Amino acid sequence: MKNKTLVISGATRGIGKAILYKFAENGINVAFTYNSNEDIANEIIKDVESKFNIKAKAYKLNILEPNEYKDIFKEIDKDFDRVDFFISNAIISGRSVVGGFAPFMRLKPKGLNNIYTATVLAFVVGAQEATKRMQKIGGGSIITLSSTGNLVYTPNYSGHANSKASVETMMKYAAAELGEFNIRVNAVSGGPIDTDALKAFPNYEEVKSEVEKRSALNRMGEPNDLSGICYFLCTEEASWMTGQTIIVDGGTSFK
Ligand SMILES: NC(=O)c1ccc[n+]([C@@H]2O[C@H](COP(=O)([O-])OP(=O)(O)OC[C@H]3O[C@@H](n4cnc5c(N)ncnc54)[C@H](OP(=O)(O)O)[C@@H]3O)[C@@H](O)[C@H]2O)c1
Repeated sequence: MKNKTLVISGATRGIGKAILYKFAENGINVAFTYNSNEDIANEIIKDVESKFNIKAKAYKLNILEPNEYKDIFKEIDKDFDRVDFFISNAIISGRSVVGGFAPFMRLKPKGLNNIYTATVLAFVVGAQEATKRMQKIGGGSIITLSSTGNLVYTPNYSGHANSKASVETMMKYAAAELGEFNIRVNAVSGGPIDTDALKAFPNYEEVKSEVEKRSALNRMGEPNDLSGICYFLCTEEASWMTGQTIIVDGGTSFK
């Protein structure tokens, strides 16, 4: 895996950051995006370059403007000689999800559209740009993050849940068409993971205790619970896995 390159969106915090560190500690160069936290991005670069002797670069991206990926990949071409892995991870929160993160009767087209753009359209444009680079080196692995909110009712979450269902379907179409280039495409679907995105839920404490109750392992997920699965999907061990959603949920979607 050494000297390969991961491109990942939204790696300043939470799950994205854990994935970035997992790849970096295995000798993989990392090109990652941030939105508002440039200082944190720079600290991460310094930290992983010194600890793991790899190359790291950060790029500003707004996933509500998916075409920004086109220019970012041009910058990545200048900084890295190859793209092996692409992980679509970033997600919006706060003002841009108003009307999208709400009970059914308060849903509004704008908020729902924003979540769809950030989840599905950003995956499409990012994966297209990554594919063009992977074709040149004989293959690669693409992953989208998903959520078990499309399997288990989660209050206020219908906007995200529907977009995650949609991105899982898009992932399968991409997998079917990109296999001929030895590019595999999969989804990693997490149950509730303790990150800023979840802490933004107005009923965070309630969600946390409900998850602890529902989980067969009696705890919430941590970002590192997903990072190893993403890494596995990029290794040779997973060389015949494509078009799949791997669920990592502490047993919460069954119990
Ligand atoms: N947390 C969960 O329970 C859970 C469960 C299953 C799946 N997931 C999925 O896992 C992924 C990561 O979630 P998380 O909980 O780690 O999220 P998070 O802690 O809220 O982090 C979000 C990341 O996305 C970036 N971001 C925010 N707004 C953006 C924008 N407009 N354009 C581009 N980037 C933007 C942030 O960058 P800045 O720091 O620079 O703002 C940050 O790096 C998401 O796809 C989420 O749906 C989460």
